[in-house]
Amino acid sequence: MSMVAIDLTDVSKTYDKLVVDRLSFRVAAGECFGLLGPNGAGKSTIARMVLGMTSPDAGKITVLGAPVPARARLARMRIGVVPQFDNLDAAFTVRENLLVFGRYFRMSRRQIDAVIPSLLEFARLENKADARVAELSGGMKRRLTLARALINDPHLLVMDEPTTGLDPQARHLIWDRLRSLLARGKTILLTTHFMEEAERLCDRLCVMEEGRKIAEGRPSELIDEQIGCDVVEVYGGNPHELGALIRPYAQRIEVSGETLFCYAPDPEQVLAQLRGRTGLRLLQRPPNLEDVFLRLTGREMED
Ligand SMILES: Nc1ncnc2c1ncn2[C@@H]1O[C@H](COP(=O)(O)OP(=O)(O)OP(=O)(O)O)[C@@H](O)[C@H]1O
Ligand SMILES: [Mg+2]
Repeated sequence: MSMVAIDLTDVSKTYDKLVVDRLSFRVAAGECFGLLGPNGAGKSTIARMVLGMTSPDAGKITVLGAPVPARARLARMRIGVVPQFDNLDAAFTVRENLLVFGRYFRMSRRQIDAVIPSLLEFARLENKADARVAELSGGMKRRLTLARALINDPHLLVMDEPTTGLDPQARHLIWDRLRSLLARGKTILLTTHFMEEAERLCDRLCVMEEGRKIAEGRPSELIDEQIGCDVVEVYGGNPHELGALIRPYAQRIEVSGETLFCYAPDPEQVLAQLRGRTGLRLLQRPPNLEDVFLRLTGREMED
């Protein structure tokens, strides 16, 4: 039996309205578990409840063997946190921010000084150690927040949209680093709006909408179950008119803004209808997690 790092059972939370509705999931030690869902679905609320920063109204939470929020302080000593919004001390330097954070974990000056170089390297901020945080770019601050989360060599990382605001190169670098943390046996609870990130990093996912779980499984399983065939993306024409034309060859058609998504068991038939029309951009591709997300949560803007 594998060790359970996070156990949520029938957890509910109400603010002005119900924002988490009898949610249950388990994250095994060593696993990367993703929370996906539209804006306002309740992902950050769950992350905060796991950390004991917000109390559930009902249900039970256990993190690294400790009941939360009752023993949250104990659990927090072995957790690294990346909040959705950076909460660095802007008046302090990069190095000072790491120092203050290390102190919070009761690390000695010597212990902290020993890990700072590798954290600066992780964040690629070697040349900014003595710059004040206020002078950093948005992405640099994000990278510092990520590095800071590792200062106590945590067993579990709770990361709320860790790569939001990072340039593509930095994002790939962080993915690489997170994979090596997973290879070393760390556990990650990750929320993200980047479907590629979820697909690459997560062993399992929970897709939420309005506080409820609407799907759970491995990324590849969800893609097979929910989509299961190739996709033809059509851009540049009237999507509704084109949709009518190719409907006989489609398993399902979705229109999102100016783009038509045609889920087709035999994409050639669809492409044959559309080739020769000028001004159309056609893309045939395998299904991905974005298709799953859009199918499960609808293509319209929430809120
Ligand atoms: N402190 C609070 N007081 C009142 N309502 C709150 C509070 N925090 C969150 N909410 C509400 O709870 C719901 C879920 O918010 P939450 O931040 O968990 O969503 P999310 O899934 O993280 O969204 P996003 O993808 O935009 O970060 C929203 O309707 C939000 O308005
Ligand atoms: Mg959030």
